[in-house]
Amino acid sequence: MRPTIGVVPLRDPARAWANDLLAHRWGGPRIERLGELIDASTLPAFVALLEDERVGLVTYQIRPDELEVVTLDSLVPGCGIGSALLHAVEGVARSSGSRRVFLYTTNDNLPAMRFYQRRGYRFVRVFHDAMTKARELKASIPAIGLQGIPLLDEIEFAKSLD
Ligand SMILES: CC(C)(COP(=O)(O)OP(=O)(O)OC[C@H]1O[C@@H](n2cnc3c(N)ncnc32)[C@H](O)[C@@H]1OP(=O)(O)O)[C@@H](O)C(=O)NCCC(=O)NCCS
Repeated sequence: MRPTIGVVPLRDPARAWANDLLAHRWGGPRIERLGELIDASTLPAFVALLEDERVGLVTYQIRPDELEVVTLDSLVPGCGIGSALLHAVEGVARSSGSRRVFLYTTNDNLPAMRFYQRRGYRFVRVFHDAMTKARELKASIPAIGLQGIPLLDEIEFAKSLD
């Protein structure tokens, strides 16, 4: 049986933990997407809790009629943390009148492509060679990504809430 995952909005006492997570998993709070850096440490976020321990973080931004997932991280893969966090942001999207939830990932991130498609997200666009420009903004982005795949493109995924 899967453990019960709690999800709570990020509040001040957990911000240092969230910033450490962003540093460790994303090389710092500034997240590159489509030639732009977004400071995820300033965004609204949810924290996942497993028996009072912080085990995941999602950061997002609300636009006029859509919500963007900026980062999503699970510290204990495969036990429902990613799903619980995504469910929480979709709830925010619905209650704020968003028509869709969208996000960007990279061409090497096969686990994320599986994860989002299993949860109703569709490929929207491929931005070829977006990572070349990304490296000009954030030199720490490697040439080779997950599973030895060259890190080249950004991919937009979205789920319609209509
Ligand atoms: C994508 C990510 C958030 C998923 O989080 P998660 O907590 O593993 O998600 P869940 O447990 O809810 O679901 C994972 C799925 O993989 C399965 N799974 C089984 N074993 C697994 C394992 N060892 N690792 C990952 N997933 C596993 C789960 O059963 C589940 O399957 P389902 O889709 O058939 O339901 C997580 O892999 C992650 O943090 N990735 C790194 C950051 C990232 O790429 N974020 C996405 C781009 S913003």
